[in-house]
Formats: sequence, C-alpha cells, structure tokens
Amino acid sequence: HNHIDHATVEKVQTAIAAGDTHARIPDYEDFAAYQAEDGYATLTKLRETGDWEEMQERVLASGLRGLGGAGFPTGKKWGFVRANEGTRYLAVNGDEGEPGTFKDRYYLERRPHLFLEGMLIAAWAVEAETCFIYLRDEYPAVRLILTREIAALEAAGLVPEGYIDLRRGAGAYICGEESAMIESIEGKRGLPRHRPPFVAQVGIFNRPTLVHNVETLYWVARIAREGPEAMSSVEHNGRKGLRSYSVSGRVKTPGVYELPAGSTILDIIDAAGGMMDGHSFKAFQPGGPSSGLLPASMSDVPLDFDTLQPLGTFIGSAAVVVLSDHDSAKDAALNMLRFFEDESCGQCTPCRTGCEKAVKLMQADSWDQPLLEDLCQVMSDASICGLGQAAPNPIRLVMKHFGEEI
Ligand code: NAI
Ligand code: SF4
Repeated sequence: HNHIDHATVEKVQTAIAAGDTHARIPDYEDFAAYQAEDGYATLTKLRETGDWEEMQERVLASGLRGLGGAGFPTGKKWGFVRANEGTRYLAVNGDEGEPGTFKDRYYLERRPHLFLEGMLIAAWAVEAETCFIYLRDEYPAVRLILTREIAALEAAGLVPEGYIDLRRGAGAYICGEESAMIESIEGKRGLPRHRPPFVAQVGIFNRPTLVHNVETLYWVARIAREGPEAMSSVEHNGRKGLRSYSVSGRVKTPGVYELPAGSTILDIIDAAGGMMDGHSFKAFQPGGPSSGLLPASMSDVPLDFDTLQPLGTFIGSAAVVVLSDHDSAKDAALNMLRFFEDESCGQCTPCRTGCEKAVKLMQADSWDQPLLEDLCQVMSDASICGLGQAAPNPIRLVMKHFGEEI
C-alpha cells in the first residue's frame, strides 16, 4: 500500500549525480533542520494533551480560508468532517494546475515540513485514518523531497509506515477539482461529482474526507505554533491576513510574494520590481484564467476573497498575470478558452460543447457578442463543476472592458 515510487527517485538521484541541472533539487529545510527549530513539538503536544476544538477555535480566530482558491473557512471544514462517524480521511490537493499558480511548489521546495506538520495537525483534528497527498506530476523535485522527508517521519516514529500515501497526478487539470481528485485517488477516471453531497460527508471511498490545499496546511502549522496572529495581525486597506501572490507576466521579477491580503495590483507590481522596461501596465488576471482579465483602471481594489465579486470575478488562488500595452486582451481571453477546451473532462454538454463553440466564436475578427453572452449564460448556469461555470469569465470581462479589441 505504499505508493512511493522508489524507481523514479533513484532515477532522479542518478541524473543529479551525473550533473543533470534540470533535475536539480532545491536547498530545502530537511527533517533534522526543522526538528532543530522545535519542529513537530506542536504536533506532539497536541497529540498528547491537545483539544481539537480549541485548535479549531484558533484556526477560526485566525480567519484562515482555503487557499486553493475558493476561500472556504478552514476551521468550519474540520467541524463538518468531525460531524460524521466512522473512518475519515484527509486528502491534500497538491495538483496546483491553475495556470500562473506556483505558490504551493514554492513552499514545498523550501519548507516541506511546515506543510507536513500542518497536515498531521489537521489529520489529528479530524482523526483521519490515512493522509493522501495528490501531487502534480510536473513537480518531480517536490516528489523527491516529499518521498525522502515522509520516510524520515516514518523512521522517527512520528507516523506509522504507509500513513501518508503520496499519489501522483497525471497532468489533468480537472483532477485538481476536489471530487475529480477523489475519483482519481480511488483509481478511476477523474470526473467531477455532483454536489451535494460535499466531500466532507461523502469523499474517498464514500467516507468523510477533509480536503485542503498545500498552502492552507502550511498556515495551519504556523497558526498552531504562533497563534492566530500569524495570519490575523496584518491589516491593509481594511482587509486582514496575508496572501501568497504568484506573480508573472510583464513584471521585472516574477515570483511568489507574501503580501497583505488588502494589496492592490499596484502594490503587487511594485513588489515584483515594477513593469518590465518598455512596457506600460494594461490589464491583469487576478486569480487564474477562470478569473478572466481586469483593466489597469481597476488598480485600487484590494485583491482578496470577496472584494472582486462586484466586478464579476474573484481572487481564486491569487495567480496574478500582468499584461502590458504589448499584449492583446482578446488574444489572452482566447488562449484561456483554448485551455478550458483542452482541459474540459467532457462529462457535461454545456462545458464540453460550450468551450469548443466559444473558441470558434472568439477567433472571429469581430465577436458576435449577443450569441457569446447567450452561450456564457448556459455554461455558467448548467455546467457541473467550476471549470465550465467559470470558463465564461474571460469572455464576459473582455466584452465589458476591452470592447475596442473585439
Ligand atoms: P467551492 O466554493 O465549491 O468549495 C470550496 C470548498 O468548500 C470545497 O472543499 C467544498 O467541498 C467545501 N464546501 C463548500 N460548501 C460546503 C458545505 N456546505 N459543506 C461542506 N463543505 C463545503 O469551490 P471549488 O469548486 O472547490 O473551488 C473553486 C476554486 O478553485 C476557484 O476559486 C479556482 O480559482 C480554484 N482553482 C485552483 C486551482 C489551483 O491550482 N490551486 C486550479 C483550479 C481552480
Ligand atoms: Fe467536466 Fe466541464 Fe462538466 Fe466540469 S463543467 S464536469 S470539466 S465537462
């Protein structure tokens, strides 16, 4: 029952030894270094004398919300899962497939044990029988790191052998949708399920399952150690907490920036070294392609959960892509819909056929806007999962803000 792929690990290690720079393993904090800084002391104490409801209170007080993109209150999920009797599971969504999102990789390649301790604290809180980590296969270095470090945890007696089950994704974006991920973990094709029931009630093998994103668990560990203030003490533009923005596009220094949750796009561009020389700021994707594009004129809005809804979009996993006067918003939106067309699982007609039709209509020099709006309405109303429901966002926002291009 151990899914750690030792053959691959050996292959990567051999490649590194032979000087293959693509197989480089980043310098990260290993088990010994983490333990030397009191690592796993919080987990051990909680396991010995902790009260899960007290820990849940801390998480609720911190304001921590799911950082995979949907922002569901983390502590509340624990309560939903605990409310169900019998075997419970924990599944970590490490599929990180949203184009422009790379924050989970950033944390896993630097402080894997902070994430692992957070995961084990959440597993303790809901009394999970097994922890599944569903990891994006395009992150081979992370797989190697986790394989080594999970083995170190087993050797130290912190978890029984096989308690953490590391699974590999296979490159399907839809397997990052939590119920499709669960289908995939069960060994089936990754097709999203209808909700309700929510996975907190009916998850892996029909058992109650706590699903968290990697970064959410990183923060659980920090909150358990440092208190709710680790997240709640930062305030900016009336918003509380911190966000990890993955910033790319026409900025001088792309990367992950941990900034106050109330940051505006101008704060974010500033943190990323400003615009590239010769480029002026035109538009931005606030949180993955499903969030579409906003124009530069909307630069005073804090990029946080809830603040972008009135503008017809959302922050999602905070994958910020900055476009300049060298870029076309129309082309960018077409590119996003092509991505959804490729990645649609094909299970429901509004999304499968809708994405394909949208791409065709968007290739025209001049868009048939009433027809596209009609299509958008059907897709958002009648698709089974978030992919099809949110795919119209880039179309609608380009029609609203970049009319001169279409
Ligand atoms: P959602 O809002 O439907 O659900 C969020 C979470 O809360 C889920 O775990 C769900 O099971 C739980 N939940 C919601 N209501 C519940 C209830 N009444 N009882 C129990 N549990 C409940 O959002 P969804 O569709 O899971 O996620 C969409 C987000 O994912 C988008 O914001 C998108 O940006 C993001 N995303 C992130 C990617 C990444 O690579 N990190 C990739 C693609 C999308
Ligand atoms: Fe599959 Fe798209 Fe339907 Fe989601 S909306 S279930 S991705 S076809």
